[in-house]
Amino acid sequence: MRYSEELIEEVRERNDIVDVISGYVSLKKKGTSYFGLCPFHNEKSPSFSVSREKQMYYCFGCGQGGDVFGFLMEYNRLSFLEALQDLAGRAGIELPEQDQTPQEKQEADARLVLKEMNKAAAVYYHWNLLHSKRGEKARAYLENRGISLEMIKHFGLGYADLYRDGLYQYLRGKGYTDLQLKDSSLVTIDTIKGSYDRFFNRVMFPIMDVNQRVVGFGGRVMGDGEPKYLNSRETILFDKGRNLYGLNYARRSREKSIILCEGYMDVISLHQAGFTNAVAPLGTAFTTGQAMLLKRYVQEVVLAFDSDGAGIKAALRALPILREAGLRGKVLSLKPYKDPDEMIKAEGKEAFQKSLDHAQAGRMFELDVLHDQYNQNDPDSRTEFVREMAKKLAEIEEEVERTAYVSAAANHFMVKEKDLQNLVNRYGLGYQFEKANQRYKREPETAERTEARKTEQQSQPPRLLLTWLIEHPEIYPVIRKTIQPDDFLQPLHHSVALMMFDQLDRGEPIFPAGILVKFTDAEEKKEVAALFSTRLKYEPDPEQNDKALSDIVRKVKLASIEDEMTHTNDITRWQELIAQKNKIQRLDLHIYNK
Ligand code: UTP
Ligand code: MN
Repeated sequence: MRYSEELIEEVRERNDIVDVISGYVSLKKKGTSYFGLCPFHNEKSPSFSVSREKQMYYCFGCGQGGDVFGFLMEYNRLSFLEALQDLAGRAGIELPEQDQTPQEKQEADARLVLKEMNKAAAVYYHWNLLHSKRGEKARAYLENRGISLEMIKHFGLGYADLYRDGLYQYLRGKGYTDLQLKDSSLVTIDTIKGSYDRFFNRVMFPIMDVNQRVVGFGGRVMGDGEPKYLNSRETILFDKGRNLYGLNYARRSREKSIILCEGYMDVISLHQAGFTNAVAPLGTAFTTGQAMLLKRYVQEVVLAFDSDGAGIKAALRALPILREAGLRGKVLSLKPYKDPDEMIKAEGKEAFQKSLDHAQAGRMFELDVLHDQYNQNDPDSRTEFVREMAKKLAEIEEEVERTAYVSAAANHFMVKEKDLQNLVNRYGLGYQFEKANQRYKREPETAERTEARKTEQQSQPPRLLLTWLIEHPEIYPVIRKTIQPDDFLQPLHHSVALMMFDQLDRGEPIFPAGILVKFTDAEEKKEVAALFSTRLKYEPDPEQNDKALSDIVRKVKLASIEDEMTHTNDITRWQELIAQKNKIQRLDLHIYNK
C-alpha cells in the first residue's frame, strides 16, 4: 500500500458509511443500526446491517461485511485503490499522484483510456443506428426482429457502418492515438494497409460489466454472413470468462433465480417480455468464473439453452459447473421452439413463464438425456440404462437428496423404487470405497487436508476470544494477565489483537472501522467484520460465562505455548513452557461470578 495510513483514515472519516451505502441500498433505522435488503445475496427480509457507530456493515444472512472501502470493493468489484480513489473523490480529497508506482499508474491510465474509448465507440454506434441515414437498414432489421425502440435504448444497441474505418476516424478525431487504439480490439492498426474497424455492417451489442461500463462488443451480421456474431477479443477491461451479457440489469431484478440463455438476442427478447433476470455468456462456453459471479446474486440458475443438440450438450456441461459453485441448476424446455427468442415470439411471455415454472431439476435432466441414449424396449439395453442411472444417483453425497432423487427417478422412469435403491446402495459402497482409496493413495493431500481442518478448529477459540473482547471490553484487565497479542497465531487474528490491545491499553473504546481500515484485502475485511459482528451466546448464568471464557482462554494460550514448544531449541525456555502449560491447564477465571 502506497498511500499513507493517515490519508486513508481521512478518506474513511470523511465518508460516513451510512451515507455511502444509502446510495446503493435502501436502509431503515432499527435500534442503533440501519437495516436493508442485502445486495450480496437474495433475500426477502432485511438482514443487512450498517452501523454508524462502528462504521461498518455486516450481513447476518450471508456473512458479508467490512468497512466503507470493503463495501465499494465488493459492490462495484473495485480494487482497494479504486475504492479509495472513488471515496476520496466523493469527499473532495485530492490524492497525491506520486503514491502510485509508474507501472501501476500506467496500467490505471490505460484502463481509464480504454473505458472511455469503449464508451465513445458505444455512443458512436448507437448514434449511427438511431440517426444516420445508413443506419436505417439496421433499424429495419431490428424492428423486423421485434426489438422495441425502448430495448434498443435500454441495451444501447448500435450499428457499425459499411465504411472500413468510420470508428477509427471518429476515435482519432477524439484525440486517441494509434498506440492507444492498438489494444482496444475496436480497430486494427496497420501502418502499411491502413487502419480499419474490427466491426462493420453489423448490429452492435455493447457488453457491460455489472457497473454499467462498456467493456466490449458483440456484433451480429445483418442477414447471412460469416461469422454470424463477432465479439471483441479480450482486453485489459474485458475478461470473457468473468462477464455475462445482461447481468448489469439482471442483478437488480430481485428474482430468486437467474435465467441463463445462449445469446444476445435471447437476453434482449426476454428482458423485453419482462424477464429481466436473463443473462448469456459471451460467445464462449459457460465458465466457473461466471458461476461464481452468479453465486453473488442467486442460489438458482435456470438454463434456457437452444433446444438443439448443441444446446443440450452445453447444458450438460454447465450443470456440473453450477453444482460445483454451489448453485442449484434447472433446465427449461423450449420445445418445439429453437430458443427463448423464438418461443416468446410465437407464444408470448405466458408460455415462457409456464416453461419456467416447469423447469426440470438439473439431475433429472441429465437422467433424461441418459434415458434417450438407450433402447428402452430391449431388456439388456434397459438394464444397462438402469445401472448407469444408479451410478449417477450414487454420486449424490447428501443422503436426503439422494433418497429424494432415487424416489423421483424410480417414478419417472418406472423402475421399482426398492430395486433402484438397492442398486444405488451397491454402487454407493463402491463409490465411497473408491473415494477412500483415492484418499489413501494421495497421502500428501490428505495430510494437507487434515492440517487445514486442524487449523480451522484451532482458529475457533482465538476468534471467539477476540469477539468476546470486542463485545465486553470489561474483561480485558483480567484477560491481559494471561493473554498477549502474540498468543494469536493466525496472522490476521494477530494483527487485530495488536491493534485492539493497543486501544484497550490506552483506555480507548474499540473502534471497529479504525481497525478494519488497516486491511486492504476484501476477504480479510470480511473476516475482521465478522469478528466485530458476531453476537456471542451470552449465558445469563455468570458461572457458565466464566467456565466458557476460561475454556477459550486456556485453549488459546495452550495452542500458543505448544506452538512455541515446537519451535524453540532452548532447553531452559522449554522447561519454562512446560511449567506454564501446567499452570494454564488449571486456569479458572472469575470475572462474572466474583
Ligand atoms: P446463436 O446462433 O444461437 O445466436 O448463438 P442467436 O441469438 O440465436 O442469434 P440470432 O437469433 O440468429 O441472431 C448464440 C450465441 O453464440 C455466440 C453469440 O454470443 C450468440 O449470441 N456466437 C454465435 C458467436 O459468438 N459467434 C457465432 O458465429 C455464432
Ligand atoms: Mn439461438
